[in-house]
Amino acid sequence: MIVHVFENAKQVARAAAALFAAQILKKPDSVLGLATGSTPIETYQELIQLYKDGILDFSKVVSFNLDEYVGLPATHEQSYDRFMKEQLFSHINIKETHLPSGIAPDMAQECLDYEQKIHQAGGIDLQLLGIGTNGHIGFNEPAEAFAYNTNITQLAESTIKANRRFFLSEDQVPKTAISMGIGTIMEARSILLLAMGDSKAEVIQQMVNGPITPQLPASILRSHQSVTVLLDQAAASKLGR
Ligand code: GLP
Repeated sequence: MIVHVFENAKQVARAAAALFAAQILKKPDSVLGLATGSTPIETYQELIQLYKDGILDFSKVVSFNLDEYVGLPATHEQSYDRFMKEQLFSHINIKETHLPSGIAPDMAQECLDYEQKIHQAGGIDLQLLGIGTNGHIGFNEPAEAFAYNTNITQLAESTIKANRRFFLSEDQVPKTAISMGIGTIMEARSILLLAMGDSKAEVIQQMVNGPITPQLPASILRSHQSVTVLLDQAAASKLGR
């Protein structure tokens, strides 16, 4: 795991976009793993700018998102499908985008199908991740064991509370999600995790220095051969040297 610390969030976003740009320039038909949440928004803005400036061409790029809320149709204001269209997909010429469906009639089958689609596309070249304050990646919450494949997951209380800000009331926050598993994420050839702000400092410290445990799902990333972590100073403030 390589950790880089930048002065501020803008610089993190620029560095993240540069790594994505390098990936796409090296392999125009890259398969990208994408994430939602507030963390990647500025990175997406940088990528949109690179596209508008004629530097990046997404016409052969395929993407797979990490997760989706169960029960929210793609058209719902808070669906991750809608988020991705608004924050990235509608602004670039990306060839093909995939998110797991939160409203498939058979969710267990949807998990299998999503996993298979990733394999059929050749696997993920570069996976973008944020991190929850409890160490979740995608929606893989702290648990007794790592969930291997794409799975249906119960959101932790702290995640429901953190996501409350996007919904009118806590009742409306979905309690279940469909998420790539830890194994799905670990199969990506390279992984890029971003974290910004004081609220992430403690979990970043644990991810980097603590034990590898399913109680802090992101800790498993330390056993992946190609993980880059980009932090702003606030998120790195508990790391020490
Ligand atoms: C959400 C998403 C994660 C994301 C995390 C952090 O629940 N499922 O993919 O990394 O929470 O969100 P944020 O970037 O808003 O801090």
